[in-house]
Amino acid sequence: MSTPNPTTMNFISINKLTNTRVLLIGGTSGIGFAVARAALEHGASIILSSSKAEKVQSAISRLQQLYPDPSFTSRITGKAYDLSDQSTLETTIISLLDYATSPSIFPNNTNINTNTNTNTTSTTEGDDKKKILLNHIIYTSGTRPSRIPISPTTTTLTPQFYTQSQTLRVLAPLMLGKYAKSYMVDEHTSSMTFTSGVLASKPVPGTTLGAMAGSALGGLVRGLAVELAPIRANVVAPGAVETEIFDELGVEERKAVKEMFRKGTVLGRVAEPGDVAEAYVWCMKDGFVSGQWVGSDGGLCLSLRCRSSTRCSSILLSYDGFLGER
Ligand SMILES: NC(=O)c1ccc[n+]([C@@H]2O[C@H](COP(=O)([O-])OP(=O)(O)OC[C@H]3O[C@@H](n4cnc5c(N)ncnc54)[C@H](OP(=O)(O)O)[C@@H]3O)[C@@H](O)[C@H]2O)c1
Repeated sequence: MSTPNPTTMNFISINKLTNTRVLLIGGTSGIGFAVARAALEHGASIILSSSKAEKVQSAISRLQQLYPDPSFTSRITGKAYDLSDQSTLETTIISLLDYATSPSIFPNNTNINTNTNTNTTSTTEGDDKKKILLNHIIYTSGTRPSRIPISPTTTTLTPQFYTQSQTLRVLAPLMLGKYAKSYMVDEHTSSMTFTSGVLASKPVPGTTLGAMAGSALGGLVRGLAVELAPIRANVVAPGAVETEIFDELGVEERKAVKEMFRKGTVLGRVAEPGDVAEAYVWCMKDGFVSGQWVGSDGGLCLSLRCRSSTRCSSILLSYDGFLGER
């Protein structure tokens, strides 16, 4: 008896990303890489981007090893774009979106965007160029800044520092929103998903800038949900997730930090990137979710151990700067 082919079956869930084009900015490590894997497994063609060319190449190679069959490898590509420079941000974003919608980046994969679920053929013809529009943008780019206390003695805290500090976390998502209508399929099946964090709701001393950036994303997706409809916009707010961000720690410190976060959750664990990736998959697949703040944090700060803000603060503060940006 032959095995049923899932792409020809009348499934209502698992084919929703088949033949879609998904851009993952920050998809070269951590949470973004897990979302990239999930999107690939769901049949999407994926475009990875982050600031370092070698990291993009290494992520592509890892995916090719994890999914060696040509039906997967033909759906993986990527290119480096650094989104941290405010003076070039807008032109860099346009270049990235031009690249991600270029027909030639998946040479063997011409049927992108003809997904029967979206009933959309989104190849557009301009005067001199064609685009294949994106179905989804996942944004997980971020770095861990130093802790910045709000104090007259904090000389680094200047208006210029503030605006620069928001470039990668807030301004880049805003600029992506600005160009979304020109580069995305204009349907309710399309979505943009950004990344905040648990400290946006529960900041501790020194994390005000991170809380501001994270909270601004809540306002951004509510605004974009209204302005870009039917394209949807949402933000995922992860708790502690074991990603490459832990790599800078020594073995003992890493163990101690994990233990602190583990104790702070009601689930008694730190997340794997593949856990939180499901929140992004949901935001892509649910054509009715828009303008939402989606928590995936293991109940951090709901647990008895973490119910008092003092206890929660001590957990988060005891590792200097970790989650400081969130
Ligand atoms: N892990 C957690 O516990 C946690 C919790 C809450 C929120 N978050 C947030 O979730 C997001 C992803 O975190 P993660 O843990 O997955 O971290 P990660 O593994 O370090 O991933 C960060 C990604 O951002 C990219 N990136 C950094 N600077 C960039 C730039 N200038 N332009 C474009 N891309 C850039 C990195 O690649 P390159 O180095 O090549 O640029 C990488 O792909 C971050 O915003 C983080 O703040 C994480």
